[in-house]
Amino acid sequence: MASEKPLAVVTCTAPVNIAVIKYWGKRDEELVLPINSSMSVTLHQDQLKTTTTAAISKDFTEDRVWLNGREEDVGQPRLQACLQEIRRLAQKRRNAWDGDLPPSSLSCKVHVASVNNFPTAAGLASSAAGYACLAYTLAHVYGVESDLSEVARRGSGSACRSLYGGFVEWQMGEQADGKDSVARQVAPESHWPELRVLILVVSAEKKLTGSTVGMQASVKTSPLLRFRAESVVPARMAEITRCIQERDFQGFAQLTMQDSNQFHATCLDTFPPISYLSHISWRIIHLVHRFNAHHGDTKVAYTFDAGPNAVIFTLEDTVADFVAAVRHAFPPGSNGDTFLKGLQVKPAPLPAELEAALAMEPTPGGIKYIIATQVGPGPQILDDPCSHLLGPDGLPKPAA
Ligand code: PMV
Repeated sequence: MASEKPLAVVTCTAPVNIAVIKYWGKRDEELVLPINSSMSVTLHQDQLKTTTTAAISKDFTEDRVWLNGREEDVGQPRLQACLQEIRRLAQKRRNAWDGDLPPSSLSCKVHVASVNNFPTAAGLASSAAGYACLAYTLAHVYGVESDLSEVARRGSGSACRSLYGGFVEWQMGEQADGKDSVARQVAPESHWPELRVLILVVSAEKKLTGSTVGMQASVKTSPLLRFRAESVVPARMAEITRCIQERDFQGFAQLTMQDSNQFHATCLDTFPPISYLSHISWRIIHLVHRFNAHHGDTKVAYTFDAGPNAVIFTLEDTVADFVAAVRHAFPPGSNGDTFLKGLQVKPAPLPAELEAALAMEPTPGGIKYIIATQVGPGPQILDDPCSHLLGPDGLPKPAA
């Protein structure tokens, strides 16, 4: 049987986000509703992004998904939840008005191919970019125009924050059906042009305790987590919003570090305890505090998600000095010239007084590489058909 052209093919990209006020713990596992609100910074897609193509066709006999070139089990509950939710929204829209929706698109099966330009599950929030991209791409292929927070959230909670660029909050909401648990942009990517982000990749391996299992254990056993959600986060959300709006780096940096530390404290308060930070993570924490103490000012902040990699926030005028400090504390192995990826950073010598103030024995190879990036925009549609990851037959194109 000659296969027909797919009814619709769409390719989109979506960014990674890094939380500065962390989400940890669900109040509803199925709907993925959090026990506290969270705030994140969207990272630039020039350095980190997921690209996803979705195609629907009458010829497809089943839904199929490929991730980084390998076919995945489409029956995974999170994938199923996203697909069902998008089809429900498409049906709702069609019931209201079915103007330009292809007549049979809803009954068609979908093929999805997705690639990351960075290591998957290395603690670099690949699932957030992945599910945001899936939600955004499916929405375009099925002609859905409503808020996509719920679709992305059902894949991975933090993914709803990757639906927007700049500075994004995920309001926890109060309703049992989760309709008010939505992501919203607090400030666009152009708001704070001096802000820079350095990802210090400590380990590119898969993490020991996934966030779903880790959160469940924390919600069950950590009294500190409950205290945090009820009594600490609400004030922190208000304060970090002010810091972002006023571009108050000191305030932003201090709160970011404190919130990362409290999140990791709740992990340690979980029973049995969870530990995501490695000894290298701790050396980075010391390095940042000594760097700041030497300058008598909070010039750099760290934050860590469910893994040992550090994400550093600083301002443009401090990047070169801090990278020199990192190179001193963690001399690169044989990859000296590829140690720093992403945005250009002018090499700077490490001032002798700063070296003395750091007082750190170098740990060669402790940091594998650095990705230098900045705040970036939300998901994008790619118009060029060459960017489709699926060929006219609906199967992944061979990798170039
Ligand atoms: O969205 P999940 O289930 O991968 O959880 C993300 C949890 C943290 O990255 C640790 C914090 C956050 O808010 O992103």
